[in-house]
Amino acid sequence: MSKRILLIIGGGIAAYKSLFLIRVLARRGIKTRVIITKGGQQFVTPLSAGSLSGDIVYTDLWDLTAEAEMGHIELSRSADLIVVAPATADLMAKAAQGLANDLASTTLLATDKPVLYAPAMNVRMYDHPATQRNMETLRADGALFVGPDAGEMACGEFGDGRMAEPEVIADAIEAAIGAQPRPLLGKHVLITAGPTREPIDPVRYLSNHSSGKQGYAIAESLAKLGAQVTLVSGPTGLDTPEDVTRVNIESARDMLSACEAALPADVFIAVAAVADWRPAKAGDKKVKKAAGGLGALELTENPDILKTLSNAKNRPGLVVGFAAETNDVIDHARAKLKRKNCDWIVANDVSGDVMGGDNNTMILVTPDGADPWPKMSKAASADRLAQKIAESITEMSLT
Ligand code: C5P
Repeated sequence: MSKRILLIIGGGIAAYKSLFLIRVLARRGIKTRVIITKGGQQFVTPLSAGSLSGDIVYTDLWDLTAEAEMGHIELSRSADLIVVAPATADLMAKAAQGLANDLASTTLLATDKPVLYAPAMNVRMYDHPATQRNMETLRADGALFVGPDAGEMACGEFGDGRMAEPEVIADAIEAAIGAQPRPLLGKHVLITAGPTREPIDPVRYLSNHSSGKQGYAIAESLAKLGAQVTLVSGPTGLDTPEDVTRVNIESARDMLSACEAALPADVFIAVAAVADWRPAKAGDKKVKKAAGGLGALELTENPDILKTLSNAKNRPGLVVGFAAETNDVIDHARAKLKRKNCDWIVANDVSGDVMGGDNNTMILVTPDGADPWPKMSKAASADRLAQKIAESITEMSLT
C-alpha cells in the first residue's frame, strides 16, 4: 500500500517550497493531500497545489462540499502522517494551545496521527521565548521537527528560520512513516514466471510442475523497492503481487511475444520454466482414441526467450537467467551464462524439493565468480536478489 501524508501549508514565503515537496514525495511513491491556510493562500494557490497532488485541496473548515465528502475528523486521520510546512509561529502557537478555529488547527487537534513540523519564520520570531516554548510543548506532545536551517532569509536577515529543503523534509517524512527506501523507482523490470502449456489439441497440453512461486516472490520484492514490474506469467494458482502488472500467457511463443511487447526494460529476469519443446502440429480438433495408439508425438523446439531478449537490439541493461540443475551446478551455470549471453545466472539446486516447495538453495553466478547463498525461503531469496539488483542498477547509473 502506498503511503499518504496530509500536508498543511501555512502562510510563509517558504510555501513555494512545499509545492516542490509534493513533487518530491510523488517521485518517491508517497501521495499527498493538501490543506492550505488563509495565510498560505497569500503565497500559493489551491489550484497549483491541487494540480501537483492530483487531489482536492482543502481550505475551509465550513466548506460544506468538503464536509459532505470528508469531515475534518476523517480528513485528519486519512493519512499516515500530518506534515506542517511551512510551520509558522502562528500555526505552532495555535497547535501548542489546542486552539481549533480554522481547518488547519482543528485538523491538528482532531488527529490521532503523528505530526511533523517544518518551521519557517524570521529569526527573531523563531528565537522568541514564546515560539521556543510552543515548540517545547509540541515536542512534549509527541510532535516531530525537521529544520529550520540557518541562512539568509527572504526578509534580508540572517539566522535560524529557513525552512528545510524539500528533499530533507521528504527524508524526514520517510523516516517518520517507516517507508522502505525505494532505489528502483523509475526502473522497469520484466520477469517471466510459471510454466508454459504447449497444446497438443484444444483440450490437451504438455507442461511441467513449476508453481511460479519464485518468480512471483521476485516480482513482489522488486515492486517493494519501487520498480515498475511487468510479470509475464504462465498459468499458476497465485495472486498477483501488489503493484505488479501481470500479463497472462499459455505457450512459450506467447510468452516471447508478451515479453517483446513489454520492452524496453532496465532489467529482464527469466524465471519461467519454459517448455523446451512443443508438439509440431497442434490439432484444432480433439485427437480421437485410435485403435493401435496415437503413434509418436512429433516435437519441435520452442524459442529461447532468455537468449532472444539478451541478444535483442533493445537488450535490457541487466539480464538474469535461472538454471535448475541437479549436478555440477556451478559449471553448468557458467556455461549457460555464456551460451545465453546473460549477465547473471541464478543457479538452483533442484535435486531436493525445490519445484513447488517454499525453500531454495541458490548460487548467484556472475562473470566475477559464484556466490552460494544458504538455504532460505523463496521470499527471502527473492529479497536478496532484488537487493543485489538494486545495488547493481545504482552502480550502473553512477558509472
Ligand atoms: O536452457 P535452460 O532451460 O536450462 O535455461 C533456463 C533459463 O532460460 C531460465 O532462465 C529460463 O527461464 C530461460 N528459458 C527461456 N526460454 C526457453 C527456455 C529457457 O527463457 N525456451
